[in-house]
Amino acid sequence: MSGSISKSKSPAEKSPGRAAKASQVASNRVVIFDTTLRDGEQSPGASMNLEEKIRIAGLLEEMGVDVIEAGFPIASNGDFEAVREIAKLVKTASVCGLARAGRMDIDRAWEALQHAARPRIHTFLSTSALHMKYKLQMTPEAVHQAVIDSVSYARNLCDDVEWSPEDGSRTDHDFLCRTVESAIKSGAGTINIPDTVGYAVPEEFAALIRMLVERVPNIDKAIISVHCHNDLGLAVANSLAAVGAGARQVECTINGLGERAGNCAMEEIVMALKTRQDAMPYVTGVKTDYITRASRLVSTITGFVVQPNKAIVGANAFAHESGIHQDGMLKHAGTYEIMTPESVGLNRSTLVMGKHSGRHAFKMKLQELGFDLGDNALADTFRRFKDLADRKKEIFDEDITALVDDEVTRAHQRVKFVSLQVVAGSKGPQTAELELDIDGELHHTKTTGNGPVDATFNAIHALVPHDARLQLYQVHAVTEGTDAQAEVTVRLEEMGKSVNGQGADPDTLVASARAYLHALNKLFTKRAKTAPKAMSA
Ligand code: KIV
Ligand code: ZN
Repeated sequence: MSGSISKSKSPAEKSPGRAAKASQVASNRVVIFDTTLRDGEQSPGASMNLEEKIRIAGLLEEMGVDVIEAGFPIASNGDFEAVREIAKLVKTASVCGLARAGRMDIDRAWEALQHAARPRIHTFLSTSALHMKYKLQMTPEAVHQAVIDSVSYARNLCDDVEWSPEDGSRTDHDFLCRTVESAIKSGAGTINIPDTVGYAVPEEFAALIRMLVERVPNIDKAIISVHCHNDLGLAVANSLAAVGAGARQVECTINGLGERAGNCAMEEIVMALKTRQDAMPYVTGVKTDYITRASRLVSTITGFVVQPNKAIVGANAFAHESGIHQDGMLKHAGTYEIMTPESVGLNRSTLVMGKHSGRHAFKMKLQELGFDLGDNALADTFRRFKDLADRKKEIFDEDITALVDDEVTRAHQRVKFVSLQVVAGSKGPQTAELELDIDGELHHTKTTGNGPVDATFNAIHALVPHDARLQLYQVHAVTEGTDAQAEVTVRLEEMGKSVNGQGADPDTLVASARAYLHALNKLFTKRAKTAPKAMSA
């Protein structure tokens, strides 16, 4: 970093600030740092809008996450705004903004974090020979100096600074020790060691952490964190090995969302620590019964479906199909179940209400499910619930959740769904008759297509001409049964930017139209996102 502040006395020497926190953290407490909104959002197709990020951040805070990395403020106005709004709203968790090792990045992160109750600046710079030579085109000496300058600069602004040597797991040990020591001297209270390309294996990664504990003289002044990518499927194993070796912060994402093969999955790390206390006597502050809700929220918003056999949150994670297993389960749940579904917030589908349920009971149910709707949204959702109850015999918690998600996403749409009539079947042509409310005016059209979905999307196209390309069309049933609601995800791409839309309805085609319109409305409001050069985190 050029033109850095005076280094007559390092910030850590001036005042220990958050760096002192390292020694205050209980020795078996693992800090959970969630980066779903930053590293998770960096996976192609997983972009989220402001309102969606706020919903996820609210849930992360409620579930007891310690640090929420809300974005990379210099990356775009959208990221900046998300960090700023989340910083204003979140009170108990630390809110973190990412910054490269430059004043402009750090200033922008600090600007976004101004109103946070607990702000954290996370600054990073590559330290591996490969990255320094080819990506940064900087000498090790220049990198070392930039670490000192950037961390000192950040620490002069903010008490809580985290520093990451990008590609840390492939960095020369002597150089890693030197930069880590300097970062701590310059005021970093957390040192995060990333396995940026998911290359490490558990024993080796644990040895790396032990090496830092043994060789960096001031390491006790910082919390060691790890940030593992899952390219070899080892992100959770590497993170657990690192905790055993002395790391006390784990960076992770809900559902393991993240670049390429993703990041360490929060639900897996937290449940592994909780379930295997005998082997790993560490605790986190996460309320595990929020896990299922968080997983579903992130999956719905991003359109990234959770594979059925995914640990902890997959649809089959607690299903026992085979006769032998079912027999064992009936005799004693412990025979085949190492954790209860309830411990991750997976309650067996509960039948909630029917068409005779009143508004008060509905409101109570919403509160029980964690939704707090304003009067208008409540009235609209109640109306749709009644409509659903007329069409569907049994209404489950999942149905209500899908309804609310759908209603929340529709709140500020310029183009609203009004009605759809489709003629489908083997004797074509399939036709769709669609009515939309566009900026308060009703518009109507009738179109044909190669199948009912195509006809429906053609009708939308006729009423709202646009150049967006359909990248993903995905349907899944909210509950069991042929009268189940369909939850549809549509991903649209325009000029290199993609957005996800969701829609739910017992009629798959209505759900499809709603999902398409949701995505289209998002495209209309999406701000231009331009990533600065060489953005790679
Ligand atoms: O993977 C990585 O190295 C990162 C850093 C910014 C921590 O995401
Ligand atoms: Zn990463």
